[in-house]
Amino acid sequence: MADLTILLLRACLALLAMPIYLLSFVGIWKPFCKKVFIPYVLGHISDIHLKKSKKQRQELFQTLPDFRRGSGELRLLEIGTGCGVNFEFYPPGCKVTCTDINPNFQQFLSKNMAKNQHLHFEQFLVASGDDLHQVPSGSVDAVICTLVLCSVNNISGTLEEVLRVLRPGGAFYFLEHVAADPSSWKYFWQQICHPTWKLIFDGCCLTRELWKNLQQANFSELKLRHVSVALPWTPVDPHIVGYAVK
Ligand SMILES: C[S@@+](CC[C@H](N)C(=O)[O-])C[C@H]1O[C@@H](n2cnc3c(N)ncnc32)[C@H](O)[C@@H]1O
Repeated sequence: MADLTILLLRACLALLAMPIYLLSFVGIWKPFCKKVFIPYVLGHISDIHLKKSKKQRQELFQTLPDFRRGSGELRLLEIGTGCGVNFEFYPPGCKVTCTDINPNFQQFLSKNMAKNQHLHFEQFLVASGDDLHQVPSGSVDAVICTLVLCSVNNISGTLEEVLRVLRPGGAFYFLEHVAADPSSWKYFWQQICHPTWKLIFDGCCLTRELWKNLQQANFSELKLRHVSVALPWTPVDPHIVGYAVK
């Protein structure tokens, strides 16, 4: 009965989003989404998410200096940088390499780079998280990934790349929205929204149990908490936050 209700409500939502399904069918939606829609929406929505998750991000990144090399240098690599909303939390003087599969965030990214002159931006690579071949093995102290694993096609491949580019003892920092408790209304809502949400928001999946992928990856230590970021009515909660050490 619950499954049938979910299917019916999914169909209703798909009907509301019919113009987007049609644009997708004729091949227009995906390029429009990547070039115009997602940069515009992220440029505005990421500020809302940032306000709500500021405390979690501040707490998360405060341990970054612990992963400095002996010389005091801290090399960071961010996967799925988007507009660069994490920059303000990075410690002064660290060297940052930004990567994203979508090169169309330039306007918002440049603004955030200009605002965060305490950082040394080394390079921006257009790359997928599961193929960071431009980055040498063992070359970074920390990899950062926030609200990205929900969208990558290859989660285990991305985590393998993270482990490859990290130096031994380096850390992978994450903040990701995940599937809610299966017995909750939130999970019911996530299941209804999932297909249409994924289409509209460039592959973002609402029901991933990402903590399992992190547990299965070959990190030596995993510090992970399940938290709620107050985003009422949206299916983008709960979250997992923490770091894993290579
Ligand atoms: C929801 S945004 C998050 C942006 C930023 N990290 C934040 O916390 O606001 C997701 C970002 O991940 C990027 N992305 C999606 N799939 C990716 C992949 N396979 N490899 C690298 N980046 C990816 C998107 O282009 C987008 O910039």
